[in-house]
Amino acid sequence: MEVYAGLAGIPVVKSSISYIDGEKGVLEYRGIPIEELAKNSNFLETSYLLVFGKLPSKEEYEKFVSDVKDNLFLDRSIIQFLKDIPPETHPMKVLQSIIPVLSAFDENKEVLDEKHHYSALVNLLGKVPTILATWKRIKEGKEIVMPDPSLDYGENFLYMISGRKPDKLEGRIFDRCLILHAEHTINASTFTAIVVVSTLADFYSAVSSAVGSLSGRLHGGANERVYYMLNELKHINDIEGYVDQKLSRKERIMGFGHRVYKTYDPRAKIIKEMLDQILSLKGNNELVRIATELEKIVLDRLKGKKIYPNIDFYSGILYSLLGIPVEFYTPVFAMARISGWIAHCKEYIRENKLFRPTQIYDGGHNIRYLPLEKR
Ligand code: SDX
Repeated sequence: MEVYAGLAGIPVVKSSISYIDGEKGVLEYRGIPIEELAKNSNFLETSYLLVFGKLPSKEEYEKFVSDVKDNLFLDRSIIQFLKDIPPETHPMKVLQSIIPVLSAFDENKEVLDEKHHYSALVNLLGKVPTILATWKRIKEGKEIVMPDPSLDYGENFLYMISGRKPDKLEGRIFDRCLILHAEHTINASTFTAIVVVSTLADFYSAVSSAVGSLSGRLHGGANERVYYMLNELKHINDIEGYVDQKLSRKERIMGFGHRVYKTYDPRAKIIKEMLDQILSLKGNNELVRIATELEKIVLDRLKGKKIYPNIDFYSGILYSLLGIPVEFYTPVFAMARISGWIAHCKEYIRENKLFRPTQIYDGGHNIRYLPLEKR
């Protein structure tokens, strides 16, 4: 018997939600290539596809959007909760702590049936963007901007964080980012979510636990660290020296590498294209120049190990151009991944098999207790 470090390459579940070919750089949601969805779909339609396994009819789509929009507004007690949290709390911690509290308002919270799945989905999709935007405004000491149900999903978030209605391109680009971040087979945070529901805990507990897992710098937390790294490089005019020093210390360069992709992450490609689109309007950006040079150097050093940019490498620069503050990059990732987490929870719960792996014990046996005075 051997330990499989990080369960690398070990299947723990059968799933039909998404598919990755790491060698070819292919990602499909329910069999549809991510490039098709990013071009033609929107985040709520893609969320429906992920959770229910098919693209919605017009009626199904309109009902789903309306159910999400019915959940955009926060109860006064939730706003007070946000006002009472220490302002220096990281928004991922705010999200992780407040999501279980949202179940208090869900009359389907007791029984883990289809009604619970659906109400958790529309409740979280509706409220999480409002929670993040409200938290940002409270932290900045600015007036809270109420959701505007007349806006599309992505547009509404950009409006609530800034108080300014985004232009159509910004809203469309942000919505596409949400599509790209929605789902990615059994990544660490999705695995966390299905481990939690395997005990028959509810979907709010599963999503809150997944937020905790996503916050780590080896996972969703990388997008924030990439931004800090690029800003640090702005003052160092020796990117090669920086890369060689990190590699000589066996340190990971944030935004590069992936457990599955051994080629360019297809999502990173789409994000880079959208970045170029926005830059054509907003003019050149120092961070893009640095990122492009850094990418070239890292590829040169690590191509042999098949290490390429992943989704987190360019996303932060794009978010900064959309007016999203750096500490909200990973929370935006979480906001999108709610659909993927709930899709997998819904799918896994049918297995109804408790996750309880084993270990290889390498400690002692029958050791005598030694009283304190004799130690
Ligand atoms: C996400 O799983 C998903 O699908 C995640 C995600 C999703 O949508 O859910 O795609 C989102 O989390 C993207 C990844 C974001 N994380 C980062 O950008 C952090 C930096 N990346 C690395 O930490 C790393 O690439 C991982 C964690 C992403 C994957 O690491 P693995 O598969 O555990 O591989 P490893 O750490 O064992 O590295 C293998 C080799 C090592 O060299 P050797 O010891 O064999 O000589 O590759 C090297 C590593 O040193 N390596 C890197 C590197 N990533 C791997 N070296 C420098 N910089 C890196 N970023």
